[in-house]
Amino acid sequence: MNALAAAAVLAALAGASGACAVEPDRGAASPAGAAAAAAPGAASVICGPEEPGERLVFEGRVLDYGGRPLAKAAVVAYHTDSEGLYNPPDSATRVPRLRGVAVTDGEGRFRFETIRPAAYPNASEPAHLHVSVLAPAHHPRFLEIWFEGDPLIGARQRERASGNSNLVIATLRRGESGAHHFEHDIRLEGN
Ligand SMILES: [Fe+2]
Repeated sequence: MNALAAAAVLAALAGASGACAVEPDRGAASPAGAAAAAAPGAASVICGPEEPGERLVFEGRVLDYGGRPLAKAAVVAYHTDSEGLYNPPDSATRVPRLRGVAVTDGEGRFRFETIRPAAYPNASEPAHLHVSVLAPAHHPRFLEIWFEGDPLIGARQRERASGNSNLVIATLRRGESGAHHFEHDIRLEGN
């Protein structure tokens, strides 16, 4: 991934913050840096087994406007921890601690390995993942993914999600490893 694409990843992370009090970082461990180093198709491991919480695997494909797989698209994901926090309360940074970048392979595939996030402590929003997708010559997408069965998803939230392709309610399944698992393909529009 070239510097321009890496800069776009940072911009996506900033633009995708939505209701979240987060900001991009610019250090060597930033998502842009991770994208520059990520091998296409390699799983982005946001956190390992030492992180408290139930394991979650999220994978899918990035597709172009014609439904064709899009290679070398950057997929950025970030989310709260098992306590619903992006960072510890005394943290000096607002960059989400649990974040990663995956680069799609020749079949447009990406994969994240992480934990299932918890809702914010004030329960103002269902538990969610933020996912941003960037690819040359395509409009970026900024998605928020909720999880079916979350008690914070009520009629009002379902109404918000209906007809909004950037608000996804994913159905989780337990994989053989015991991890929650879901797949979601993300289609981009050309620009
Ligand atoms: Fe959020």
